[in-house]
Amino acid sequence: MKTFDHAGKVIAVTGGSRGIGEAVVRRLCSEGAHVFATFNSQPERAERISQEITETGGTITFHQVNVSDEESVKRFVEAIVVQAGRIDGLVNNAGMTKDGLIMRMSAKDWQDVIDTNLTGVFYACKAVARPMMSQRSGRIVNIGSIVGLGGNAGQVNYSSSKAGIVGLTRSLARELASRNVFVNCVAPGFVETDMTDKLTDQQKASFFGNIPMKRAARPDEIASVVSFFISQESSYITGQVLNVDGGLAM
Ligand SMILES: NC(=O)c1ccc[n+]([C@@H]2O[C@H](COP(=O)([O-])OP(=O)(O)OC[C@H]3O[C@@H](n4cnc5c(N)ncnc54)[C@H](O)[C@@H]3O)[C@@H](O)[C@H]2O)c1
Repeated sequence: MKTFDHAGKVIAVTGGSRGIGEAVVRRLCSEGAHVFATFNSQPERAERISQEITETGGTITFHQVNVSDEESVKRFVEAIVVQAGRIDGLVNNAGMTKDGLIMRMSAKDWQDVIDTNLTGVFYACKAVARPMMSQRSGRIVNIGSIVGLGGNAGQVNYSSSKAGIVGLTRSLARELASRNVFVNCVAPGFVETDMTDKLTDQQKASFFGNIPMKRAARPDEIASVVSFFISQESSYITGQVLNVDGGLAM
């Protein structure tokens, strides 16, 4: 497995206590970064991950954050800058689903998903923009989804939030490129996590049938692409959306 060198880098990861976020946290820590990760429930999971990473020589700090609360996000980023003196990377991974056909989707289910998945990304990007611009360096990686590009029945809220992330990524990339701050989006297809565990076996079988690789991604297969976007190896890439989907959305 190709690894990247993140020694000494300070990187924030939202939703780092499970699924894709946990894989990103573990990968970046194993490559030398000091990772500040968020959890918003299940503190025992964050505790266990911290312990395991620390035992293997990594550096991780967990904070309880609700990404849909601007003050909570600001406090998190300010704490990083106070403790570490800088912030080199931000991975906007926290996300949720509240699926349903539009006729049955309440305004609250719409708003909750937009607040977490899209407005939460805006809050975090806004909070890191100033320190990254003054440093004249930074990397922001937003976790989108291929349904933000192609849509998905039963997910107007989720797919709209992920489509919004594409617009946010490209606009912010244009705003910050001259300050050496790069913004990209990783758009996974189907990944084996708690989020997709909710699907029935029948739903999973029908999804896999349409994937050219005929399988879901492992979370570490998303984490490796995130690590690439954080790394020096992606030094001339900004404003891009990279599908990591086994060939599903071609
Ligand atoms: N699993 C997939 O197939 C898949 C596909 C495409 C995109 N994604 C995206 O990848 C990201 C991670 O998904 P996952 O599959 O690991 O899901 P998951 O449900 O396992 O993890 C989501 C994480 O986000 C956190 N979170 C949710 N709401 C939050 C809030 N308000 N404040 C702070 N944290 C919050 C949760 O605590 C959890 O740690 C999400 O953005 C998701 O939309 C997942």
